[in-house]
Amino acid sequence: MQTIVMDMTGGVDEQQIIYAGMILQKGGLAAFPTETVYGLGGNALSAGASEKIYAAKGRPSDNPLIVHVARTEDIVPITSAVPETAWKLAEAFWPGPLTMILPKSDLVPRETTGGLDTVALRFPSHPAAQALIRAGGGYVAAPSANTSGRPSPTTAQHVIDDLGGKIDVIIDGGPVGIGLESTIVDLTEDIPVILRPGYITQQMLEEVVGEVRMDQAFVSNDPQVHPKAPGMKYRHYAPKADLKIVEGSAERVSSRIRELVHADLAAGRSAGIIATDESAAAYPEGIVRSVGSRSDEITIAMHLYATLREFDEMDVSVIYSEALDTPQIGQAIMNRLIKAAGHQIIHV
Ligand code: TXA
Ligand code: MG
Repeated sequence: MQTIVMDMTGGVDEQQIIYAGMILQKGGLAAFPTETVYGLGGNALSAGASEKIYAAKGRPSDNPLIVHVARTEDIVPITSAVPETAWKLAEAFWPGPLTMILPKSDLVPRETTGGLDTVALRFPSHPAAQALIRAGGGYVAAPSANTSGRPSPTTAQHVIDDLGGKIDVIIDGGPVGIGLESTIVDLTEDIPVILRPGYITQQMLEEVVGEVRMDQAFVSNDPQVHPKAPGMKYRHYAPKADLKIVEGSAERVSSRIRELVHADLAAGRSAGIIATDESAAAYPEGIVRSVGSRSDEITIAMHLYATLREFDEMDVSVIYSEALDTPQIGQAIMNRLIKAAGHQIIHV
């Protein structure tokens, strides 16, 4: 299949968006930028389109998709009950990087929700995403636009690398703004539960709706405790190399990573290091990549997946990452990093 790449790095092109929207309405697939990561969109109300999304990604079909809307009120027809908390959260954070889980209506096929009675809803803030959702009929199911098991795409090139030739359209909107997937909050229980941490933190949610809990799977950090979001149980974001996180004081971390890299190189293994602007100069050996300054969390979030992809391309055998537990979105960054590392953490 020929994939059309639409250049919208300079802004939304209405003509091309109408064409991409038509493709969605006819059951085709279009990847598009959002403020978090690129999404792979299909018509959320069509069972066939959702099946195509699973096939293109190579994703297990019990892993539900997020339905994207371009107006808050559009959630009414596709849900069976909207609690007060949902309206409050929508008012505070939509459009933006928050996904809410609500009971679904019969309009949403089970193929879209991975067989569940609930549906995940998000109103993204990216103008190209909003324009495409409107042109595509208002309801766009979209997982991250990566091959299943690869890091989420933060540039159109990442999407081309994974899905070029497998989908109809890729809208290039340039690099995304946040670089980590949306916060997911489950509103089907009395107290909202965060199923996936993201840019919108627990504290930000609590300021709007009172008590919010974290899914036990994060609190315990025990790989045996299964998260409630079906997708969080898979080993997502897994780099080809053996990734280990080194956690502790800055000096101990850099000295341990230096030792480990030295031993790897001596044994003939190539080693990558995920460092920060503050520490990059502390590593004389290995392939060093800074994901940004510790004082700029968004830059770190933005560069994490691209760095993992870059190491994949270089085929390094091992990667050591400093723990990146920055104050606010650090919880989300560490959640993705720990999953990518298959829970291998070296405490120093
Ligand atoms: O930022 C994002 O959310 C991006 C952009 C494209 O919007 N999308 C994204 O989709 O990250 P995806 O499919 O890669 O991740 C969706 C997650 C999965 O872990 C899935 O299991 C969970 O949301 N999920 C979807 N529907 C759910 C439901 N009804 N109940 C619980 N978890 C659900
Ligand atoms: Mg994903």
